[in-house]
Amino acid sequence: MDNRPIGIFDSGLGGLTGLQALRQYLPDENIVYFGDTGRLPYGEKTRDQLRVMARQNLSFISSFNVKAILVACGTLSSNAGDLLEAWHIPAFGVLTASAEHIRRLDINGPVAVAATAASIRSGGYQAAIQARCPGSTVLGIPCPDFVPLIESGHLSPDDPLLRDAVARYLQPAKDAGASILVLGCTHYGLIEAAITAFLGPDVRLISAAESGAISLCSHLLKTGKTGGSGETKFYTSGDMVTFARAAGFFLGRDAKELVVEAIPPQPVPDFNDSYPLTGV
Ligand code: DGL
Repeated sequence: MDNRPIGIFDSGLGGLTGLQALRQYLPDENIVYFGDTGRLPYGEKTRDQLRVMARQNLSFISSFNVKAILVACGTLSSNAGDLLEAWHIPAFGVLTASAEHIRRLDINGPVAVAATAASIRSGGYQAAIQARCPGSTVLGIPCPDFVPLIESGHLSPDDPLLRDAVARYLQPAKDAGASILVLGCTHYGLIEAAITAFLGPDVRLISAAESGAISLCSHLLKTGKTGGSGETKFYTSGDMVTFARAAGFFLGRDAKELVVEAIPPQPVPDFNDSYPLTGV
């Protein structure tokens, strides 16, 4: 039994898909969630910037005496996976966990991965899936407009802007006959309905956020470290009211019930760089 909280972070609302999955399996855990909305979107940052930001967020969330961390962000998981693995507190990303999930499936046809530009550019998802499913074809699809649309509330499958963006980005997955689409960015779980409306029910969606949450839960169960009283505290580096409203909407809770605190965003590391540079 261990009542210390679990730390979760992402660039904004996307990690809530991980939080929700985690709650489904272990509802009594205490959770500290950090949405780095003040520095969003991560998907447009360079690898070196992302690696510094991963360290900053790991340090911030670790300051809450957490027992484990869910890095509920595909972009950080694919650009700083080695930093998560080396962290002094068990830190679970979403990339390896989702590739492991796919390894256990019967794959017929190409696997499509929809994620941020920085995730796809890193090649992390493609390599992790191909290493586990030799001979498979993996189609990486960057979807840069999804996160800004989601963060500004375009979530409904009937929303014309969202519908157009989904069709524009995911047509190649349809054309390739993909039978699996990995939601490699944790934000994309918030528009699952719009994605399924376009691809149809036969394309299986694998949520990287849920895969990551499951691997963290198995770790706690295996090590006997579950425990808590079901409390959640949110931090955002963006606007507190906007964050609370959006998080409340997604979690089906009254925004006023959520405990949200705003913190100033850390500066975005300024490298005079182009992608890729050597690691930080
Ligand atoms: N939700 C994050 C991810 O999983 C980051 C999205 C962004 O800020 O671009 O990749």
